[in-house]
Amino acid sequence: EAGALWGGRFASGPSPELLRLSKSTHFDWQLAPYDIAGSRAHAKALAAAGYLSETELEAMLDALFRLQEDVASGAVTAAESDEDVHSALERALIERAGAELGGKLRAGRSRNDQIATLVRLYLLDHSRLIGHLVVQLIDAIASQAEAHGDAPMPGRTHLQHAQPVLLAHHLMAHAWPLVRDLERLADWSKRASASPYGSGALAGSSLGLDPQLVASELGLDRPTENSIDATASRDVVAEFAFVTALIGINLSRFAEEIILWNTREFDFVTLDDGYSTGSSIMPQKKNPDIAELARGKSGRLIGNLSGLLATLKGLPLAYNRDLQEDKEPVFDTVEQLEVLLPAFTGMVATLRFNTERMAELAPQGFSLATDVAEWLVKQGVAFRDAHEISGELVQFCEERGLELHEPSDEELAKLSPHLTPAVRDVLTVAGSISSRTGAGGTAPDRVAEQRLALTERVRQL
Ligand code: ARG
Repeated sequence: EAGALWGGRFASGPSPELLRLSKSTHFDWQLAPYDIAGSRAHAKALAAAGYLSETELEAMLDALFRLQEDVASGAVTAAESDEDVHSALERALIERAGAELGGKLRAGRSRNDQIATLVRLYLLDHSRLIGHLVVQLIDAIASQAEAHGDAPMPGRTHLQHAQPVLLAHHLMAHAWPLVRDLERLADWSKRASASPYGSGALAGSSLGLDPQLVASELGLDRPTENSIDATASRDVVAEFAFVTALIGINLSRFAEEIILWNTREFDFVTLDDGYSTGSSIMPQKKNPDIAELARGKSGRLIGNLSGLLATLKGLPLAYNRDLQEDKEPVFDTVEQLEVLLPAFTGMVATLRFNTERMAELAPQGFSLATDVAEWLVKQGVAFRDAHEISGELVQFCEERGLELHEPSDEELAKLSPHLTPAVRDVLTVAGSISSRTGAGGTAPDRVAEQRLALTERVRQL
């Protein structure tokens, strides 16, 4: 059987049904560059332990180099008869190095420690790219925040007008979770940076190969501690799937607001033509498809995570073939984020805010009632009473269709002797916003500081 890695103890070859089921080259071929890097490192460890002569190592590295070139150019691809990327590349290596030398490389390693190593290398590489794309999105948010300086908007809780806030403040509230996602990725990468190579099938190797040499060659910090754990666990993959799903969820929450803001009813934003779509039937339409795809794909990412967790649950130690199912979900998550993030960043960077409309709505819905209560507290009124008085003012205004600053001096005094005309000083959006100088608050100075802190935190990563 061409390409099969086993066969010695089998009377017949695998059935065609098994071959079809077992095959993974259509997705694990992506790991080919990492597989070859692993082989290069392993060849050096074999040579260091005396299993390959100087000349053999040279010939092996030369064959691996040619193999790498041929994989990159597409001259080598997986054949119909190849089960997985490992068997395909062994076949192709033997074609280049000859059966004698090519057949030596498998000593002291198993596909079990290989695959556990390769998936880490793949994820570490892509985590760097995804991290870079997230930084670009944070930069786009920070630039929009900077461009909108002191522009106010209605801040909401329960989707109801709550208190006015700065648009910049609100925008950056979408950036901080992404910063934490980047920190999570950085923290994950420390755990991921261990090499299972040398664990063999599960029990470790008897050949005295140096696992630190392989780890260093692969750019990993250290070898793993336990060969059974190293070949059987996929928590490194699951954690990556979680952090990336969370990135999807954070994009989705921002996306949902952009979709709302883009409605006629809100009319807070205009999407750039390059980052919105039309309708095939309704000529007037301009749709927020990027935001909707972000929202939709976040569901897919959650599915990838939960599918993987379900695969892991209940697996006995050590390697089980179920573990082959770890790859498609995370490959998919990586592919989705790598196309989504640049589009999302472009949408955010080109978003135009209708600041006039946002400013006009900011004080509506009695969103300054808390300012009245806090003003009363500063006049020595207990907050309990202040809340009560402010609530009565809201009711008074609501019944008469007035805004909070509109009742006359007499009407104010009748509601409460504490409500002197001076209360109107805090009944402006700018006054309310600039009074919120507490840590992390919406006062312009705090928000400006926050923007610097945001940039600094990203720079430290
Ligand atoms: N293709 C397998 C995987 O992705 C690795 C091969 C291990 N196969 C085996 N029969 N031990 O997990």
